[in-house]
Amino acid sequence: MEDRKVTYLVQGNRGSCHGIPLLGFVLCLAEMADFVDHRLFEHHLKVAYLAFRLGEVLRLSERSLWNLLLGGLLHDIGAFSYQERLDALHFEFHNPHRHAFVAYTLLRDFDPFVSLAEVIRFHHVPWEEGRGRGVPFESHVVHFADRVSIVCSFREDPLGEIWEKEPFLRSFVPRLFHPEIFEAFRKLLSRDYVWLDLASSHLRRIVHDLVPPGKLCLNTEDFLRFCRIIAHLIDFRSAFTATHSAGVAYVARRLGELTGLPRGKHELLFAAGLLHDLGKIAIPVEILEKPGPLTEKEMRIMKSHAYYTFAALSWIQNLKDIALWASEHHERCNGRGYPFGRTKEELLFESRVMAVADVFTALSEDRPYRPALRPQRVREILEDMAASGGLDTDIVAMLLDHFDEIRASCREVQEQSALEYAAFRQEIVRFAG
Ligand SMILES: [Fe+2]
Ligand SMILES: [Fe+2]
Ligand SMILES: [Fe+2]
Repeated sequence: MEDRKVTYLVQGNRGSCHGIPLLGFVLCLAEMADFVDHRLFEHHLKVAYLAFRLGEVLRLSERSLWNLLLGGLLHDIGAFSYQERLDALHFEFHNPHRHAFVAYTLLRDFDPFVSLAEVIRFHHVPWEEGRGRGVPFESHVVHFADRVSIVCSFREDPLGEIWEKEPFLRSFVPRLFHPEIFEAFRKLLSRDYVWLDLASSHLRRIVHDLVPPGKLCLNTEDFLRFCRIIAHLIDFRSAFTATHSAGVAYVARRLGELTGLPRGKHELLFAAGLLHDLGKIAIPVEILEKPGPLTEKEMRIMKSHAYYTFAALSWIQNLKDIALWASEHHERCNGRGYPFGRTKEELLFESRVMAVADVFTALSEDRPYRPALRPQRVREILEDMAASGGLDTDIVAMLLDHFDEIRASCREVQEQSALEYAAFRQEIVRFAG
């Protein structure tokens, strides 16, 4: 299927990216997803790299190569729980299509990703002597690269290891693997650099450099639309967070307007709101959904999400401001926040806006361990947090002055998100069990 819109492929051929580099953004998502457990270390990177190299040998089109690279980086992003991610490490496992379908359902709404979503949707379809030909060829390539990355550790002696695993992989042709793809793999066997790249500690940079500078750039409009998709990826992992980022984004933008920040910043605050909990992709759903109080260890894991948001976003070209505002949403003016422990003087105004938006939204929502608080209680807590030096007093005062209006609009935005979440859940249950 052809993509409906290809803006991200046509902006600038050489030179630097004027918008947001899509690959850098996708790389950070992949990295987040693999932080969940050390056994997943760089899994998405390895699959992306190998799928791309196989695609080169198979002389696939440029479009297919990008699909292999981005598809490899995102293929397991729909495996929300810790258990699902670990299950996918087995060579053959029960219901492999669920996580593929989840990723497809979320990514297909982003126009430039229409064909990529299809590739991911079918990345566990076996070749079955040709009966698997009804799905995109790239899906079979990602499938093969995925299975190679499961059976090989790429740690010690990667060159010996890959030759040693060749007969095992061959035994699954043509039941699991397409014969042509296996032939391409045979050609790669004698190219030492491929297997040494996979074992390299610089794999991230190597993958990054596969795309010429200036390719795969997002303009501002597409960037914002992609942020919405990412917010779904973050929020839809649990019913308890399903509408959180949408609410924070709305409130942050509204506070930006009310406090007189320049117009150009309003949408950027909105984007920061959508991305602020990005690091939660690295937190097992089992912790996000725990119905009782977290243990100290679980609390430490949970708190690390703010750092991960920073680690992921801060190195993306042209995204420095948003990265900072987003990752400082748990900082407090009195220096008692995390992950940096910065004080009011050290925090940007926009970061303090994010903190207020996050607290307000969180208090107004159901949590696994308590129902949403009543409006009066939300007001009191915000006042207390401002008085004790946690939240910025001026920003809290502005919110309290417009409390009913902000609360009503935020609810509306979140109700819309809740509908989208319900439709998403229904589709998953119907088509993927
Ligand atoms: Fe998978
Ligand atoms: Fe995988
Ligand atoms: Fe957070």
